[in-house]
Amino acid sequence: MKQRDSRIMSDMAHKIGIITAGGDCAGINAVVATIVKMGSAQGYEYIGFHKGWEGALSPMRYRTLDLESVRGISHLGGTILKTTNHGRFSAKIGRGEKHAIDPAILLEAKTNLDSLGIEGLIVIGGDGSLAGASQMADLGVNIIGVPKTIDNDLSTTDVTFGFSTAVSVAVEALDKIHTTATSHGRVFLVECMGRTAGWITLHAGLAAGADAILLPEFPLDLGQFVGFLEQHMQTHGSAVIAVAEGITLNLPSTMQDKENAENQMVGSSYTLMQMIETQFPGKFELRNVILGHTQRGGSPNAEDRILARRYGIAAFEAYQQGQFKTIVSMRSGQIVLSPLTGEIDVVKRVTKDNPIYQAAQKLGVYTN
Ligand code: F6P
Repeated sequence: MKQRDSRIMSDMAHKIGIITAGGDCAGINAVVATIVKMGSAQGYEYIGFHKGWEGALSPMRYRTLDLESVRGISHLGGTILKTTNHGRFSAKIGRGEKHAIDPAILLEAKTNLDSLGIEGLIVIGGDGSLAGASQMADLGVNIIGVPKTIDNDLSTTDVTFGFSTAVSVAVEALDKIHTTATSHGRVFLVECMGRTAGWITLHAGLAAGADAILLPEFPLDLGQFVGFLEQHMQTHGSAVIAVAEGITLNLPSTMQDKENAENQMVGSSYTLMQMIETQFPGKFELRNVILGHTQRGGSPNAEDRILARRYGIAAFEAYQQGQFKTIVSMRSGQIVLSPLTGEIDVVKRVTKDNPIYQAAQKLGVYTN
């Protein structure tokens, strides 16, 4: 694959490969449609690979993307190209650990892209997929990255599309739980996704008026939390707790050692419920609700649609200008280009000076 030279390439059709990789989220289709729309009028051609990087490996699976094929998809959740968060190109194992992709796999992908006459790639992915993309860029493949994850935990950008929709889903659920918790006088532990980052839990918890917000970033003192619950139940009669799936429970389990531990965080609210029931029997009537993949599915909300379109436009323009090995990012409301490096998967975590965390504290919401 050659570095693009606009003087040489100007008379030829530019063929861009699009890859949607990693866990899906709301807004991916809007990015794909925007990129295709931006370039089609200028003669760009697009190939969309099936199931992320897997489609670029042998046997290749891909389809041509044109205006017709992306019409009416921007409001749809998921990805029309399909995706996977594991597979031969996976640059991550376990909790945030990354590894170098097998050089033979990288070479196979590069050879396949060359055989299709693909000039460069726009990769829509999270930390693992973009870490993989950076290894391809190191081989000289022209790549622009677009950050995507409901977790909003990529340091490279203030915000990822999919996050706002996930928060909206969690808020709607927490609102519903409030009424049943009140009727029954129960303590509900409502588990939000986000892996080792508590952004969804924090934002949804504050927006929905959760009584406590338990985050993975800080240790949880069980005795202190139960003390809060006791007091709160006396004054309010019920409690709704937003629990991040990644909270640290100091379990003797080997969960953190397992290869795909990231996908096994689910259930921490259930474990917490069991711990409270065992260590403080009969104190509360507890229930847990795991919101799970409802936060990833469905249509993007207005904010995510706009963000997805802005990222799509920026990715195409960066491509057109030959600004490869970069990621489109948001900094203080402005789209900027950040370098696409192996450090892409540095996790952005909630800190205690975060204004949303501070707001929760000022309102008397219990936080760990
Ligand atoms: O990273 C996105 C995410 O939805 C996390 O919030 C969650 O822990 C994980 O992916 C779930 O992965 P899977 O879809 O493999 O269950």
